[in-house]
Amino acid sequence: MTKETFVIILAAGKGTRMKSDIPKVMHELCGRPMLSYVLDAVKAARLRNVTVIVGYKDKLVRSVFGDKVKSIKQKKLTGTAEAVKAARGKLKSHQGNVLVLYGDNPLITPETITNLLVQHTKSDAACTLLTALVDNARGYGRIVRGYKGDVIAIVEEKDATEKELKIKEISVGAYCFKSEELLEALDKIKPNNQKKELYLTDVVDVLAKKELVIEAAGVEYKEEALGINSRFDLAQASRILSLRMMKDLMDDGITIVDPHTTHIASNVKIGKDTVIHPFTIIDKDVVIGKKCSLGPFCHLRSDTTIKDNIEIGNFIELNRTSIDSDCFVKHFSYLGDATIGKRVNIGAGVVTANFDGKKKHKTSIKDGAFIGSDTVLIAPVKVGKSAVTAAGSIVTKNKNVPDKRVVAGIPAKLLEKKKKR
Ligand code: UD1
Ligand code: MG
Repeated sequence: MTKETFVIILAAGKGTRMKSDIPKVMHELCGRPMLSYVLDAVKAARLRNVTVIVGYKDKLVRSVFGDKVKSIKQKKLTGTAEAVKAARGKLKSHQGNVLVLYGDNPLITPETITNLLVQHTKSDAACTLLTALVDNARGYGRIVRGYKGDVIAIVEEKDATEKELKIKEISVGAYCFKSEELLEALDKIKPNNQKKELYLTDVVDVLAKKELVIEAAGVEYKEEALGINSRFDLAQASRILSLRMMKDLMDDGITIVDPHTTHIASNVKIGKDTVIHPFTIIDKDVVIGKKCSLGPFCHLRSDTTIKDNIEIGNFIELNRTSIDSDCFVKHFSYLGDATIGKRVNIGAGVVTANFDGKKKHKTSIKDGAFIGSDTVLIAPVKVGKSAVTAAGSIVTKNKNVPDKRVVAGIPAKLLEKKKKR
């Protein structure tokens, strides 16, 4: 049944209330654009026939899915019904169910999408729409029910009467239609509203007047109703998504001491028995091994990989850096563009000076090295196996430290090897 459903995701709007040059659906949550979450939910619900409606900065929006998903450009950005009309050609050749979702609804889950489709198919309704009972209905379309309790309209806030404004049941912005009924109704919609737009929500009114069956389906989780229209909504959704992902990590055997002060991007991989202390920030494309300890107060930036059994302590920033197993970086350090071997100790306050004002350069520290407190490594530079830098050393660029040797001073110089007696 679900295979033949035609899915339309609306993502053409500018998102005026975001007050941004970036299209709304491109704003990021946990390191990924809002739209990618809706696409993921659709994919997880095993729906394959998907078209995204793009409009404002369409090329940028298309970059989220490339040629993996089809898209159509909405030429006039004059409302959600106009957006669906952009797919009219495809709708005409489609028989069966049409699922319409909004790209600014990133918390929607595959379970809710599947339930919506199942209910729609069972009831044989002309339209099944997703609704939710909320404490604060502000900004959402209100569900108006007739005296028998059946849905007869969705009224947008700007057009609602005092009585309608009190309704706590809102439209989430996800609908399943019979294709031919949708097509017919779209032609009857007029911009008779405060915004002078063509509202998809008015399809419900048209279908109700034809006395067709309109069903309401519920969300699995209350939070799914959150549509992102402002920066505040974005922050709220980020927090919810972040908590969802951290719960998954915890279920996989990772300890997160305080999820409320921890930020982890959505594609981060973490091995089991790793402990993450408060105020830790982990950006996208970071990989962390098993039995590590991170934080409090550390920042692992993109393209950083740390293997197993590593301690990253207080006030550490790692950027495009890889660290092999059994290492310590415990107190206030910056390591950027560095490759660090096994069993390395990085002392307090160590800095890799990777940027010379024009270019970034690499630092390599081999297995078993000991980098003394307050060492500055001016890249490009290499520290050999089991080599030592004394506390306070400034190792200047290309002055590589040979294996098992000790350097000290400013600029750091090789110390003589102790003679064996
Ligand atoms: C919409 C619904 C409202 C519902 C709410 C749920 C309408 C008229 N109202 O309001 O009933 O409670 O969502 O979050 O549908 N878009 C286009 N082309 C356009 C306009 C919008 O593709 O011309 C896209 C936007 O990019 C966005 C989605 O449609 O992803 C929803 O548009 P938005 O302006 O956010 O509608 P809301 O005011 O939130
Ligand atoms: Mg919206």
